[in-house]
Amino acid sequence: MEAERKILMEACDLWKSYGKGDVKIDALAGVSLDIYDGELLTILGSSGSGKSTLLNALGGMDKPDKGSILIGGKDICKLNDRGLTDFRRKNIGFVFQSFNLIAELTAKENVALTADVVHSPGIVDEVFEIVGLKEKMNSYPSQLSGGQQQRVSIARGLAKDPELLLCDEPTGALDYETGKQILVELERLVREHGKTVVIVTHTQEIGKMSDRIIKMRNGRITRITVNEKPVSASEIEW
Ligand SMILES: Nc1ncnc2c1ncn2[C@@H]1O[C@H](COP(=O)(O)OP(=O)(O)OP(=O)(O)O)[C@@H](O)[C@H]1O
Ligand SMILES: [Mg+2]
Repeated sequence: MEAERKILMEACDLWKSYGKGDVKIDALAGVSLDIYDGELLTILGSSGSGKSTLLNALGGMDKPDKGSILIGGKDICKLNDRGLTDFRRKNIGFVFQSFNLIAELTAKENVALTADVVHSPGIVDEVFEIVGLKEKMNSYPSQLSGGQQQRVSIARGLAKDPELLLCDEPTGALDYETGKQILVELERLVREHGKTVVIVTHTQEIGKMSDRIIKMRNGRITRITVNEKPVSASEIEW
């Protein structure tokens, strides 16, 4: 990574523990991490290593016990609940393993719910175009395949034009081919649309398509690998 790259987010010495006494677990034990503007970052690590805890902290879904997360000169760890909700709504897109779509709403309605339709009226159509699912906008989640549902959830994540798209196991619930299509989609967001995307995954091979790979273990970052020549998502296999 060239030194002059702009830092989008700067996490410093994050700590988060669960439980007390003998059963106390440090889910985050002093994590510091810079996220660069326009990068594709993969976070790897075994189950329980703290990946989701870190992602949730970065996205303002959950507050660390200690540490700071600077974005645009502001420390989101210092915000109150309301401020944090507001930050999250405006700046962060989330993509979950389980899609988290509302069954009673169409794809379009699911996306419109989080979109700032007042300020950018065309945004819903635009994000469906980006994820290649315009023809299914009026379908309900139950009428869509897993991959299509994940596309809707990516569209929803993009609908507020977030600084940062955080994806927790975005391919976890999908079959191989569909999962791969989703990775191609996420890669395109970074390479063609200049978005910053963080992908949490168990699948080591997925790291090959990213600019940097973070390895976590027991709540710590144990390794950061820079990928000078990321492999295209369509070419990786696992
Ligand atoms: N709400 C919670 N209450 C208690 N312990 C928790 C909670 N959330 C996470 N933990 C614990 O914190 C540690 C880190 O959890 P985390 O979910 O961040 O791991 P992960 O790397 O995302 O794992 P996985 O790959 O299985 O999703 C684990 O030991 C987990 O049991
Ligand atoms: Mg997790």
